[in-house]
Amino acid sequence: MRKKIVAGNWKMNMNYEEGIELAVSLDKYFTDKAPSGTEVIICPPFIHLAAVSQALKSGNIALGAQNCASEASGAFTGEVSASMISSTGAEYVIIGHSERRTFYNEDDSLLNKKTILALESGLKVIFCCGEIKEQRENGSHFEVVKRQIEKGLFPLGKEAMENIIIAYEPVWAIGTGLTATPDQAQEMHLHIRGLVREKYGTEIADKLTILYGGSCNPSNAADIFSRPDVDGGLIGGASLRKDDFVAIVEAREQT
Ligand code: 13P
Repeated sequence: MRKKIVAGNWKMNMNYEEGIELAVSLDKYFTDKAPSGTEVIICPPFIHLAAVSQALKSGNIALGAQNCASEASGAFTGEVSASMISSTGAEYVIIGHSERRTFYNEDDSLLNKKTILALESGLKVIFCCGEIKEQRENGSHFEVVKRQIEKGLFPLGKEAMENIIIAYEPVWAIGTGLTATPDQAQEMHLHIRGLVREKYGTEIADKLTILYGGSCNPSNAADIFSRPDVDGGLIGGASLRKDDFVAIVEAREQT
């Protein structure tokens, strides 16, 4: 059985007070109603991590960061290392989000470097991939995602894959209200699992959790999660609203 995951990527939203408030209210909700088969993760901004870590008392919500530095430590003003993230109690880090690729020019080799450092620091990596609108329209989307995964992940050894989660996030669906159809999500997830199977074998591929992200919300989550290769979601906007996030977790629990 693969691990089901619903992760909230808060992006650059929520000031410190608001962030703690949301974390506390989610923690309270999941204390009373512990998810039975779903790992719930929240990924607030860096400066919230330590306090959110303290606020998550139920043990039913895991913590993640949205990025990490590509160097281990030293004179890199403004950067936050993977080991610092891990020292807050966070267990996950998102790497290769399309916003990092696009706005901060993060390329495949840099992302591979970050992934290695994150794994060495004991973090699990939510590695993002996904095509832009033009690539979907010209039919190169399978090739684009293949390249991102081959360059970003496939230099890793087999054991490292135990701590990798892949998130397929078509860029045209992020924050746009345009969701991939369940069929589009399923066929890309199947493609990704196939690539991993070819490289690392069936056991690793069957165990790999693959999340869908891009305008996932309480009304479309159950449909998307009903597909066999969609193991959960990476949620942006809807993760900032407690009721919506909880509803998406419940959709995952029930499908
Ligand atoms: P939205 O859910 O806001 O479309 O964002 C998805 C995303 O980028 C999660 O990482």
